[in-house]
Amino acid sequence: MDTASPPRAALDDTPPLPAIQALAAADMAAVDALIRRRLASDVVLVNQVAEYIVGAGGKRLRPMLLLLAAAALGKRGADGAGVGADAHQLAAVIEFIHTSTLLHDDVVDESDLRRGRSTANAVWGNAASVLVGDFLYSRSFQMMVELDRMEVMRLLADATNRIAEGEVLQLLHVRNPDTDEAAYLQVIERKTAVLFAAATRLGALLAGADATTCDALHDYGLNLGYAFQIADDVLDYSADEAALGKHLGDDLAEGKATLPLIHAIAHAGDATRERLRQAIIDGDTGAMPEVLSAIAAADSLGYSLRRATGYAQAAERSLDGLADNPYVAALRGLARYTVSRDR
Ligand code: IPE
Ligand code: IPE
Ligand code: MG
Ligand code: MG
Repeated sequence: MDTASPPRAALDDTPPLPAIQALAAADMAAVDALIRRRLASDVVLVNQVAEYIVGAGGKRLRPMLLLLAAAALGKRGADGAGVGADAHQLAAVIEFIHTSTLLHDDVVDESDLRRGRSTANAVWGNAASVLVGDFLYSRSFQMMVELDRMEVMRLLADATNRIAEGEVLQLLHVRNPDTDEAAYLQVIERKTAVLFAAATRLGALLAGADATTCDALHDYGLNLGYAFQIADDVLDYSADEAALGKHLGDDLAEGKATLPLIHAIAHAGDATRERLRQAIIDGDTGAMPEVLSAIAAADSLGYSLRRATGYAQAAERSLDGLADNPYVAALRGLARYTVSRDR
């Protein structure tokens, strides 16, 4: 990976986030309506919990990636105005899968704030969160089957299986102070990057792209996913909590060694290193001041963001073979946004 190459000039034609969102707005409105419609169940608690987390918003980044990937490769729906009902359907599927992993993740991480609200587990308890997560997960399967395309089902079955592996792999590293960068990267590929890659590959597949182009969009999504998760892990130590809508310090509280802490441990002196290792073993947020000063001393957030930027640049390079258009520019813009975001 080339982390040394400078970012593209600031004054280029890369659109900022609001312009990207505007480009996808009509399709995203259709996706949102579909998401709302397909949340429905005659079991009241399902509706309550699902409406609660979906209604809290979220960036809807993954469905937008699918739509932009499809549009970048020339896909248009029957009415010519958007990317079409099949893309809307799979964009909703991707967001349902994402949402179900968030419901499960907050139980596993014992988190009590998400999207600026109390988490579903804080309001309804762990059992309700896990079970409604399962509802959303299985609803996504019902919806993908409706397309009746074996390659789509295979792709999503493989992706969801890899994500589940990633979550379990992460569990194995909890409270393990020996977790190193290679182990960390293995976890984030599966738990996060694989879903980004599925989203962008699906966009390409629906556009009827050839195998090389589908692979390029897959690589874009995968690299973007790495960048996104590393940035998330930096935000867990440095964000403005109100903007982020999540509590800071959740990773340390959970005994999760993410890149900033892994880097700080590798660069600390003996005494500090021992205390940081113990903080991971204990999941001790009381050690946060010392963790933060070790992270500052080693410039571990700077290092992590440089790594994230390297992945974002690799994502952009994956698009180099595509004919330029506003949707390709938007995908490039999202790669930049991913590492500069505050939420
Ligand atoms: C949170 O994802 C989980 C991670 C992979 C870090 P997002 O930051 O995309 O969450 P929402 O959907 O915008 O709330
Ligand atoms: C992302 O990891 C988990 C998923 C892929 C669901 P995190 O645990 O860091 O996500 P947040 O910070 O709780 O959103
Ligand atoms: Mg979490
Ligand atoms: Mg996080």
